Amino acid sequence: MVSNRPRITRVLDVIEESSTVRSLLFKDKLCSKAKPGQFIMVWIPGVDEIPMSISIMRDDQAGLTVRKVGEASTALFNMKVGSMIGIRGPYGNSFNPIIGKVMIVGAGTGLAPLMPLLEILTNKSASIDMIVGGKTMEEFIFMDKIKEILSKTESKIVVTTEDGSYGIKGLVTDAILPILKKKRFDMIYTCGPELMMKKVFEMAQEFNLPVQASLERVMKCGIGICGSCCIGKYNVCKDGPVFDSSKLKEVKDEFGLFRRDHSGKRVIF
Ligand SMILES: Cc1cc2nc3c(=O)[nH]c(=O)nc-3n(C[C@H](O)[C@H](O)[C@H](O)COP(=O)(O)OP(=O)(O)OC[C@H]3O[C@@H](n4cnc5c(N)ncnc54)[C@H](O)[C@@H]3O)c2cc1C
Ligand code: FES
Repeated sequence: MVSNRPRITRVLDVIEESSTVRSLLFKDKLCSKAKPGQFIMVWIPGVDEIPMSISIMRDDQAGLTVRKVGEASTALFNMKVGSMIGIRGPYGNSFNPIIGKVMIVGAGTGLAPLMPLLEILTNKSASIDMIVGGKTMEEFIFMDKIKEILSKTESKIVVTTEDGSYGIKGLVTDAILPILKKKRFDMIYTCGPELMMKKVFEMAQEFNLPVQASLERVMKCGIGICGSCCIGKYNVCKDGPVFDSSKLKEVKDEFGLFRRDHSGKRVIF
């Protein structure tokens, strides 16, 4: 069920994930029952309304995980227990959890929509290979939680940092190739910087493997009306945010190459 009417709720808990990332927990029945990969429009009073993935779902509570970047995300990051926010959604499609051997590739706050998926896959999948990347060790979030969830199933975690401060030195995509050469997967799920996802998609195509990638675009309405989130013939808010391989092929002239700024102008990644 979707509700387009903003609901007012209060921050119940603030979890420090890193020096620039925090998770905010709030009470909301609809969001607590969202599907993995769905997002909400979060109204920050007096500042803006921005899309945020739902990263936590438990009982009648849900959570989002925000990295402070610009004005709105910093205001959200600075919210305290008891602060008021408005919520619309959950919106968009979701990841489709499959039964089989899966690879999950995530980086930064791209891990946020992957966390609810990971919990579901733990009970479904034959095996999970999780590849997590970041620039430096300080950027990593959710690692203890990921290890705890993965300990319940046949799994492997590979961590990469560009500066070598944690795990293997290099790009997350460098770590994938040797794994793809050794093991056959039934699905690759990914969320993170679009250039990373593009590379993951290209590698998956080489090995003839299906992909589900969660995309980000500027969003204003969140419900398929304004067109600010368009990529090719699709609106990311309504037709996505999760794009499967066939949709990614259709938007290959924009995916990882162009996005649109707040005025709708095409800009290069
Ligand atoms: C479906 C969806 C889900 C999202 N989920 C999350 C989430 O779970 N957690 C989260 O933190 N963000 C998420 N975002 C991004 C979020 O909505 C904002 O775009 C982001 O927080 C920046 O907003 P801002 O207004 O603070 O910055 P802006 O004022 O929009 O940007 C300030 C500067 O930072 C750059 N910038 C904007 N966004 C990013 C970014 N993501 N990374 C690096 N630089 C950026 C801009 O180009 C600009 O130069 C999601 C976006 C979408 C579309
Ligand atoms: S945000 Fe308005 S159409 Fe997607």
